[in-house]
Amino acid sequence: MIKTVFFNKEENCLELIDQTLLPLQEVIIKCRTEVDIAKSIIDMQVRGAPAIGVTAAYGVYFGLINPKNREKKILLEELLEQICDLLTGTRPTAVNLFYAVNRVRNAILNLHTGDLDKAAEKALSEAKAIYEEDLAMCRAIGKYGQELIGDCETWLTHCNAGALATAGYGTALGVFRAAKEAGKNIKIIADETRPLLQGARLTAWELMKDGFEVTVIDMAGGLIRNDMVQGVVVGADRITSKGFVANKIGTYSLAVLCKYNGVPFYVAAPTSTFDMSIKYDDEIVIEQRNPDEITKFAGVQVAPTGVKVYNPAFDVTPPELITGIITDKGIIEPIYAETIPQVLGLK
Ligand code: MRU
Repeated sequence: MIKTVFFNKEENCLELIDQTLLPLQEVIIKCRTEVDIAKSIIDMQVRGAPAIGVTAAYGVYFGLINPKNREKKILLEELLEQICDLLTGTRPTAVNLFYAVNRVRNAILNLHTGDLDKAAEKALSEAKAIYEEDLAMCRAIGKYGQELIGDCETWLTHCNAGALATAGYGTALGVFRAAKEAGKNIKIIADETRPLLQGARLTAWELMKDGFEVTVIDMAGGLIRNDMVQGVVVGADRITSKGFVANKIGTYSLAVLCKYNGVPFYVAAPTSTFDMSIKYDDEIVIEQRNPDEITKFAGVQVAPTGVKVYNPAFDVTPPELITGIITDKGIIEPIYAETIPQVLGLK
């Protein structure tokens, strides 16, 4: 299995496959400080909601063992705040980042200790637990989701919600992997996913490695209209308590297309992607990215100098367009305002 995030015990570092270089080069980067970790998330060497959560969780550990931080001679609580602020300040939309960092922070605070070594030990064990749980949640999502897929069907996905976006196996791609493991012969359509091409570069790469027949497209409308796709599964960066789903830009258009043409549109996400503190789309902070991602292609300028650019990384799909949300606890169906709290055990 692809090692998206790997804690190297011997070298005491976190190894990440540099996703900005895929599929042309398979380069492993080694993070040894919380600053390395924050930079790898900002630069999108690691990306995808669950993967950045897991990576940031390890970042707390590296911050607590960093000799530069230990020289500061400040209280553990203060240092912890500095480290957590750095990590959560990297990307604003995926809630998994906040979930993972807060979980490690709370585990440390619950020790009621000022001892940095004990705190670091706790941070490492909690990060490992988050990693293991993410992997298990992806497997469970696959188990439930594969039931939706029939033999010899063609399903479409957007962006990359695969092993590269999680601790491993993937959410949307985990559903396809589980269907294949169940003996179903399926074909996958990968949306190219502009502007950073996560579909063409990452989804195509990891599915081909696993022996899938995958086709990269930039014309979902035509395929969906012509009945060439039996269903769509996408990942999620944040899901509100009423079922609004933030995911890679272009997801909303895909959901509208599916609704118009009567094609099932599923979201696959672990329970760590739900943000029960908010209800509606306008409460989700959408990351705005560098205009160069739009005006340049592979470093070469393609748009007129000075043109205005609007480049949000994510959009929000409203609940009425979503057929079901495939989670590690089962498939959630509408009406989400009622079913999400029920499945998450909050009602
Ligand atoms: O900007 P990215 O590449 O981090 O965006 C990733 C996505 O939008 C994924 O679809 C989402 O995080 C789900 S990953 C299991």
